[in-house]
Amino acid sequence: MIKGKPISVSLSPNTQKDDVLLALKMIFNPREWQKGKTVKELEESFKKYLGVQYAFSFNSGRSSLEAILRALEIKSGDEVLMQAFTCNAAVNPILKVGAKPVFVDIDSTLNLSLEDLKKKITPRSKAVMVQHTFGWPADMAEIKDFCQQNKLFLIEDCAHSLGARYDNKLCGVFGDAAFFSFGRDKIISSVYGGMATTSNPGIAKKIGEFYASIDCPSSAWTLQQLLHPVLMNYLVLPFYDCLKAGKAFLSFFINTGILSKAVTKNEGKGILPGYFPKRMPNALAVLAQNQFKKLKQFNSHRQNIAKIYTEKLANSEKFILPFTVKNGQDKLPIFMKYPVLAANPKALTEKFRKANIYINDGWSGSPIVPPLTRLEIFGYKKGSCPKAEEVAKKIINLPTHINVPEEKANLITKILIDL
Ligand SMILES: Cc1ncc(COP(=O)(O)O)c(C=O)c1O
Repeated sequence: MIKGKPISVSLSPNTQKDDVLLALKMIFNPREWQKGKTVKELEESFKKYLGVQYAFSFNSGRSSLEAILRALEIKSGDEVLMQAFTCNAAVNPILKVGAKPVFVDIDSTLNLSLEDLKKKITPRSKAVMVQHTFGWPADMAEIKDFCQQNKLFLIEDCAHSLGARYDNKLCGVFGDAAFFSFGRDKIISSVYGGMATTSNPGIAKKIGEFYASIDCPSSAWTLQQLLHPVLMNYLVLPFYDCLKAGKAFLSFFINTGILSKAVTKNEGKGILPGYFPKRMPNALAVLAQNQFKKLKQFNSHRQNIAKIYTEKLANSEKFILPFTVKNGQDKLPIFMKYPVLAANPKALTEKFRKANIYINDGWSGSPIVPPLTRLEIFGYKKGSCPKAEEVAKKIINLPTHINVPEEKANLITKILIDL
């Protein structure tokens, strides 16, 4: 049993003491919430790190993707090929610009299957959007060739993969444009935030025009996000397992609008909230920039924890580990989470819960997560991506973030093996 703060896959996982203090400081500095120098600094950090020519910050991955789609002039009648086993947040911007998402099945690493991609292309296909699921790089050489041969735009969804490498190059540099997320449970986190990147001057010009046409989010929205690390750290997490008080606090804060939800209920019906698309407010850029400085430390920690899971679980016949597939030397994953396929995910989740470990992150139960997503609204036909549907039934995700010490990773493997 883990006393005190729980280990969780998705409840403010990357937040450390310095992040909480920084958020607290920003709360008392409202003059810097909207405009300030850190937005540009964060964009410069990204350009330098990725080695790309242009970076535009937005208030989410969702806003960043909308900017890219509009810059590529993807519109009504166009099809965007993308993998199933994705989040509705990655699909909604496609619906918003009037295009049709076409879902492609996944391979054994939970990424886009090239074989199925070849079957799903039509004369209306305009772009392929590649997701590097949970930080495992997709087969970029083959996918890029396919896009070039078929004159399709290539968009990289790097919401999970900041710092992952393919062929010794960082994910995000292979396509026409890429976007990143700084959502609360992503690689680095400012509760909400995102970045669109490209090295193509024409695309950059159009993203810039879109950026100029939108505003910063409201001060109330910005404050709501600044409160998140503070309230999670002082009121929610310390009491999460104490007569469920922390959990009740969290529900209260969300229901009263004091804290935001990562994905709203309406998004499951294809309706994006009015606070997208917006620019990245300076206050959240300050949080993101602080986390960005810790990126290498975060990712090498994730890789170490993943190594423990692989070593301890690889010989167990009870589980399939998608991220142990031998794939040559060309991939350096960063394990945003560590997926395990099991016959009894519900029983495992419950057993973890009793040990104050929360592995339910919403990434299960549906080929488009979270599970209440209305598949028919998203144009997903049941049975069209059988592997994604199968994975959704069996998956649990183990935490790898900086707040999971090695001894807890060992305990997690023990719980799994003993069940
Ligand atoms: C695969 C994937 N793509 C895109 C997004 C959208 O990112 P954001 O939450 O920053 O809008 C998310 C997360 O919600 C995601 O998991």
